[in-house]
Amino acid sequence: MSERLLAGLDVGTTKVTAVVGEVAPDGILDVIGEGTVASEGIRRGAVVNLERTAEAIKKAVRAAERVAGVEIREVHVGVGGPQIESATSNGLAAIRRGQTIRPADVERAVEQAKAYPLEGDQELLHVEPLEFRVDGQEGIHDPVGMTGVRLEVDVLLVSTAAGPLANLRRAVEAAGLTVRGLVAQPYASGLGVLTPEEEEMNVLVLDLGAGTTGIGYFKEGRLAFAGVLPLGAELVSGDIAKLLKIPFEEAERIKKKYGAALPELADPELVLEVSQAGHPAGGIPAPELARIIRPRLREIFMLARKALEERTGPVEVAVGKLVLTGGGALLPGTEELARREFGLPVRMGRPARVEGLADIVASPTHAAAVGLLHFGRLSGEGARVRRSSKARPPERAAEPAALWERIKAFFKDFF
Ligand SMILES: Nc1ncnc2c1ncn2[C@@H]1O[C@H](COP(=O)(O)OP(=O)(O)OP(=O)(O)O)[C@@H](O)[C@H]1O
Ligand SMILES: [Mg+2]
Repeated sequence: MSERLLAGLDVGTTKVTAVVGEVAPDGILDVIGEGTVASEGIRRGAVVNLERTAEAIKKAVRAAERVAGVEIREVHVGVGGPQIESATSNGLAAIRRGQTIRPADVERAVEQAKAYPLEGDQELLHVEPLEFRVDGQEGIHDPVGMTGVRLEVDVLLVSTAAGPLANLRRAVEAAGLTVRGLVAQPYASGLGVLTPEEEEMNVLVLDLGAGTTGIGYFKEGRLAFAGVLPLGAELVSGDIAKLLKIPFEEAERIKKKYGAALPELADPELVLEVSQAGHPAGGIPAPELARIIRPRLREIFMLARKALEERTGPVEVAVGKLVLTGGGALLPGTEELARREFGLPVRMGRPARVEGLADIVASPTHAAAVGLLHFGRLSGEGARVRRSSKARPPERAAEPAALWERIKAFFKDFF
């Protein structure tokens, strides 16, 4: 049996989502399980309470297992939080005269680029080749088989702070799971939604989460920048709560039900009854609610733009299209507001290129979770997911097994 099973775990500020996917022999990803529960113990994308986070992870995983009829043991985990950092580095490999460039030469150049000193206590998550040069010739994507004496590579290094990462790992392991791979959340969100046409362009993916905003910049399908801002759509609800003097939960509810990012999109006839002291009788007209919402969204867009432009220069030049993911993108008018703020074509990113339970994961809130499955699919890593629902195996070390060990173990699970 050549199908492969994978599991992804997105530990967000408001929700934990577990997904199970099956990669068919033709490479198509079937989503066969999904479970989402409210988060506990997470703030701004970081674990603040280990036990509660582990509990939420367990619940989400159990729910996904029940739908899929498999037992999840290993997961690809999304790493959020504002400690995500991007740096660029380069490496060099000399090629013996008369020989063509082999994969081992590419690895040597990339290894050298990895030797870049990371700031403070950062831990490396991704090393993504951006561009190769052969004897000074620029713009090469795949140098294998080419002739030259000097191979150079520019790479993107994505890292995160070791402390928060260790806490996330601990929570996942306390839920009885093994970390198969770690993926920066903005990277996962992009992998979850980008179309083949967008992989030929330069695209900015903004994941408008509750506590964070993920920034993923993809140049012709390759990750070229990843960052996370410590602010998200929960601040919008916070503003509504403060200004209307109502509890946060009530503000969250009316935002989802009546909110819009642009006053002209709100129904001028609609007046919201809010039970707050000190507000004129008759309630809040919906356009007024939008006027409370808009400034915070603009601020988030402005800061995201600034963070990207520090690396790339003006977005109008660097970016061809903006794709919005995350629950914040569900607010009506958010795409139009983003279009105005960035001066770019904008679309809402819903997980694509999946089959099976595609409708269940077809929300921008599921971009990162589905992207984790695509990451696993692309890196050729099948996770330990069992078809039977017998007792769980004993815990294993987090280090990935050697490839052959994994393949053997995988087949043992089937026969
Ligand atoms: N229908 C909706 N309309 C408006 N806002 C919505 C809607 N659904 C969800 N949201 C908002 O989206 C946010 C949750 O988004 P999401 O599920 O992507 O966040 P998360 O992954 O839990 O957080 P983070 O990625 O920041 O860790 C909340 O602030 C919520 O208010
Ligand atoms: Mg999220």
